Amino acid sequence: MQQSRFTKICQLCLVALLAYPNAATQLRTYRLKVMADYPKNRPYTTVVLAMSADGKIADVKRSPARFTSLADKAHLEQRIADSDGVLFGAGTLRAYGTTLKVSHPLLLQQRDQQKLPPQPIQIVASRQANIDPQLRFFRQSVPRWLVTTTAGAKHWTGCPEFAQILVCPLPCSVEIDWVTALQQMAILGLSRLAVLGGGQLVASLVAADLIDELWLTVCPLILGGATAPTPVEGSGFYSALAPRLELLSVEKLDQEVFLHYRRQRLED
Ligand SMILES: NC(=O)c1ccc[n+]([C@@H]2O[C@H](COP(=O)([O-])OP(=O)(O)OC[C@H]3O[C@@H](n4cnc5c(N)ncnc54)[C@H](OP(=O)(O)O)[C@@H]3O)[C@@H](O)[C@H]2O)c1
Repeated sequence: MQQSRFTKICQLCLVALLAYPNAATQLRTYRLKVMADYPKNRPYTTVVLAMSADGKIADVKRSPARFTSLADKAHLEQRIADSDGVLFGAGTLRAYGTTLKVSHPLLLQQRDQQKLPPQPIQIVASRQANIDPQLRFFRQSVPRWLVTTTAGAKHWTGCPEFAQILVCPLPCSVEIDWVTALQQMAILGLSRLAVLGGGQLVASLVAADLIDELWLTVCPLILGGATAPTPVEGSGFYSALAPRLELLSVEKLDQEVFLHYRRQRLED
């Protein structure tokens, strides 16, 4: 009941935005205000994740996160439709084998009115880029880029699967230089980037202070497991030095809670 109500509310909002261009302008102005204080030489980044009540984004087998509601799927599709590019780690791609496309007619219409292509660019992050070319992802009608190291680029240079390969190694390291990678994305025209996980990729971006917003959907189940992935993995932060967030909104829909945070920086 609640799910279809949420979907209806989303549709009504979309219809209102399409019917009343002033409302859309006001929303864009608000968004620009929120976006005003991030460095302009990189895309504005928004992490979108769903987790169990105990803070796990998948079970111990790292299975695809299929525990979310239809309302959360609509929310994820909206966030994807709001972006120029979506970034995810190779682990997430291996788990799902596909990516979520924008398919709702109103979202496609919204993108068309904003003079955006129907689909944002799907960007895979991988050091080694040892990715199975048989994955269904490579047959989906979406533009695909790869962010990788020099070693990873060797697997895919000249292959049609990726329209762009961004090679951004940190000097004397097997790691990606994310500041450079995001600068390259900005040069290539991306101004809004949705980061769809998993925890390893998000950890690298948080560590480089490259995350501006975070959407977390808390779902009503307990996954447990010391090795089950969480929203931010990596080596972690001491609490005194941990990145701080400002809570922008909380919404309860049926059994799920939608949390929306903004990264709070020193100058705020
Ligand atoms: N609940 C949710 O919303 C949600 C969302 C997304 C994913 N998930 C779940 O999360 C799990 C996958 O998580 P994961 O921790 O394995 O995530 P991941 O970050 O998607 O994948 C890890 C792999 O991505 C690449 N990668 C990650 N960080 C990188 C970096 N800084 N630089 C270069 N490459 C990087 C590496 O690929 P290479 O090894 O190829 O170098 C790494 O092995 C799956 O179980 C999936 O279902 C859940």
